[in-house]
Amino acid sequence: MKPIHVGLLGLGTVGGGTLTVLTRNAEEITRRAGREIRVVRAAVRNLDKAKKLAGELPLTTNPFDVVDDPAIDIVVELIGGLEPARELVMQAIANGKHVVTANKHLVAKHGNEIFAAAQAKGVMVAFEAAVAGGIPIIKALREGLTANRIEWLAGIINGTSNFILTEMRDKGAAFADVLKQAQDLGYAEADPTFDIEGIDAAHKLTILSAIAFGIPMQFDRAYTEGISKLTREDVKYAEELGYRIKLLGIARRAEAGIELRVHPTLIPERRLIANVDGAMNAVLVKGDAVGPTLYYGAGAGSEPTASAVVADLVDVTRLHTADPHHRVPHLAFQPDQLAATPILPMDEVRTAYYLRLRAFDRPGVLADITRILADRDISIDAMVQKEPGEGEEQVDIILLTHVTVEKNVNAAIAKIEALDTVAGKVMRIRLEELAAR
Ligand code: NDP
Ligand code: HSE
Repeated sequence: MKPIHVGLLGLGTVGGGTLTVLTRNAEEITRRAGREIRVVRAAVRNLDKAKKLAGELPLTTNPFDVVDDPAIDIVVELIGGLEPARELVMQAIANGKHVVTANKHLVAKHGNEIFAAAQAKGVMVAFEAAVAGGIPIIKALREGLTANRIEWLAGIINGTSNFILTEMRDKGAAFADVLKQAQDLGYAEADPTFDIEGIDAAHKLTILSAIAFGIPMQFDRAYTEGISKLTREDVKYAEELGYRIKLLGIARRAEAGIELRVHPTLIPERRLIANVDGAMNAVLVKGDAVGPTLYYGAGAGSEPTASAVVADLVDVTRLHTADPHHRVPHLAFQPDQLAATPILPMDEVRTAYYLRLRAFDRPGVLADITRILADRDISIDAMVQKEPGEGEEQVDIILLTHVTVEKNVNAAIAKIEALDTVAGKVMRIRLEELAAR
């Protein structure tokens, strides 16, 4: 059978890895796909930079040369960002080409429009590499778990922030130094704020939630909080209490809607997912039939991400002659079967909390704090008062609460911060047991 022709948009960390893996494993990949997957053209901005990697591969600085090339069957978008990526993908679809992308930002923001266009045109848009790098989590959720009603999922889905948290904890490294390392290793986004402030994780969570629950992409409703405000003290206190702090993306079915949230989270250290370190990712998925399942692997980097891109290329190659109605739907559920289940506002989310505050070491302080919590129906699971430092009048108090409603905790924090005996702000980190039940 004649080769399927691929055009690459971008030859950076992921594009370069994709070309390398396709070349190195060409024989195995052809045996699996049933025909050769041949890259015939690539677009970059800087031709000189790409020449060595590209070898004989024709290059262009105009990405529209690739999407408009009639000889190309599949366009692989690996340039990142919203524009011109969105326009290029839409034009590739309009030209009747299949698309593979690793661009979670694009899928989370414009996925609804992109999938509708692809559906109408009868082409595939595959995006395995957009979530959790090399872990085949899209495939697992969309196909492997298709019998299940998904109850919740929780994932470490940003390699850069997990790498930073791990290096800070294990080596006492400074935030800025570790971030620079993550950038040098090719893990970070073009704008690393996306990694640090939880935005990249929220893009990925948006995609996972759509596939898990059969809802449209709703990135703008996701709650997003990153790791930039975490302190070494909190990491240390959490460990003393038997917890690890991880940046988690959580999507959960609740009675009144779906929780969609990214934030630093205390997890019991005995959980497997609490021990996922460095740039590794892991996604825990709870289905009603299968119970909890855990997916682990490299969440970022050149060849791990290329592994997912090439898997999509093989899928598209195998399926492109199939009747479009018999393909796996983009969002796992049939497009006319998406649910309008609301995303819950963060105030309505139910979880447990770690609270750290600094208070004067005086009689009655703890009584005031516990009364404020009790008045709002917040029950305390554990409380630790640290020894004051040499010559210090204030002490750190750490409280763990049982599961409660976020708005009650926010109201209690405001009251606690207003006490004369409490100095500064209360540090609030959410806590999840992630029990198998
Ligand atoms: P890089 O910055 O390493 O590579 C981007 C590539 O796109 C470069 O070759 C660049 O060319 C090219 N490019 C950018 N804009 C244009 C344009 N307008 N026209 C033509 N070429 C262009 O990014 P990554 O490979 O790291 O990321 C690519 C995508 O993959 C992003 O969406 C990212 O979020 C996603 N991703 C990245 C992962 C990772 O570990 N890095 C993991 C999972 C997903 P030039 O170098 O000449 O400027
Ligand atoms: N910047 C992303 C991360 C790349 O660190 O996880 C993989 O999506």
